[in-house]
Amino acid sequence: NIIKRAYHPKVLEYYENPKNAGSLDKNSKEVGTGVVGAPACGDVMKLQIKVEDGKISEAVFKTFGCASAIASSSYATEYIKGLSLDEAVQLKNSDIASYLHLPPIKLHCSMLAEDAVKAAIKDFQKKNETK
Ligand code: FES
Ligand code: FES
Repeated sequence: NIIKRAYHPKVLEYYENPKNAGSLDKNSKEVGTGVVGAPACGDVMKLQIKVEDGKISEAVFKTFGCASAIASSSYATEYIKGLSLDEAVQLKNSDIASYLHLPPIKLHCSMLAEDAVKAAIKDFQKKNETK
């Protein structure tokens, strides 16, 4: 079928069996939530992190979008789990894209995942500002 022809096996692996799909309580102080949209295609991605002792103990996502966006967000959540915020913020869309073998036309899907991670971290930091 069309999907199988258009996507790299790595994408399909995540698309068919997405790891870390789900959501966390966005009102919890331990949770940071990032919601981002891609103007190009209208896809929306929500990514949440739970931070304990300065490390990301849980990362989950909900993505309304293409297979590449779902695979990108799933891979991103796997990647950042266990990392500190400083480490997680360094995840680049190019890392995601090369891992998943995304073609140029699908690069914005991995961009969405990078943006969602950054937004979730920002939200967490904002909630926990000590002033
Ligand atoms: Fe977003 Fe492909 S255009 S689903
Ligand atoms: Fe837009 Fe994938 S086609 S996020």
